[in-house]
Amino acid sequence: MSLDDAIYEVFGPLSRGAPGNDAATLRALDAVPGRDAVRRVLELGAGRGRAAFALARALPHARVTAVDIHAPFVEGIAERAREAGLADRIQAVRGDMEKIEVARGSVDLVWAEGSIYVIGMERALAMWRPWLRPGGCVAFSDLVRWAGDLSEEARAFWAVEYPDMASEAAIRSRAEAAGYRIVRGFRMPRDAHEAYYAPLEARVAELAGSADADIRQVLAGLRKEIAVVRRFSDEAGYTFFVLRRAEPVEAAAGARSSPIKGKAAAVIRS
Ligand SMILES: C[S@@+](CC[C@H](N)C(=O)[O-])C[C@H]1O[C@@H](n2cnc3c(N)ncnc32)[C@H](O)[C@@H]1O
Repeated sequence: MSLDDAIYEVFGPLSRGAPGNDAATLRALDAVPGRDAVRRVLELGAGRGRAAFALARALPHARVTAVDIHAPFVEGIAERAREAGLADRIQAVRGDMEKIEVARGSVDLVWAEGSIYVIGMERALAMWRPWLRPGGCVAFSDLVRWAGDLSEEARAFWAVEYPDMASEAAIRSRAEAAGYRIVRGFRMPRDAHEAYYAPLEARVAELAGSADADIRQVLAGLRKEIAVVRRFSDEAGYTFFVLRRAEPVEAAAGARSSPIKGKAAAVIRS
């Protein structure tokens, strides 16, 4: 078994691959300006599809395309969509979010819970912007540095496990430089983190006797992560961001009134 296979073996029966719950998903959705006019949602790194179902149910006139690279996840979403009578509105697609092709201006909302790290935030924000119709939005959650300074143990762990972890302020600057306006940012509460970590902890315990070296390696990393996240829960955690595509006129107007908008306007015009 490879390490990748071991990861999917561990996560296979779990309903989440990252912190999050429907309350956080819907809170982010409610921040989307004109949410009831949303018709085309593209979810990337959809995992088992929890958010895809929450979005489809909350937006009865929208179609949600849920993309994931792992075929069993995609097949599971398609099957559950059929069972739930949502097959006409949830389309499950096996695809690589690094390579998918999406028509310009064809999407109202790009959604990525716990998956933007796959391609990296700067690349992802640049790639997604042309897909959005004017005024379209991006919503994503990511592991973020909440504290100014991390404790030594947390710093050492995340330096290896997530060296790209940024602060909320850095993410806001990145988003503006990439041609977005920040609509909302909120830290996910403890229960949204535990909705992921509690079942994961039980799964790690269930597989503890595994003789497979790759599984054992994955379990060791997860044990450490769960311990660090819980012990330093006020230093780092998942933040949800909702961004709106900034339009050139908006950015140009902002450039006159705000010193930070000049940079965004220059990017948008280029
Ligand atoms: C951390 S999980 C998050 C899953 C889900 N959004 C959630 O919150 O439960 C990341 C997901 O991205 C998928 N993934 C990884 N690389 C991918 C890629 N290149 N293209 C599409 N999906 C990918 C994984 O299969 C996994 O389901």
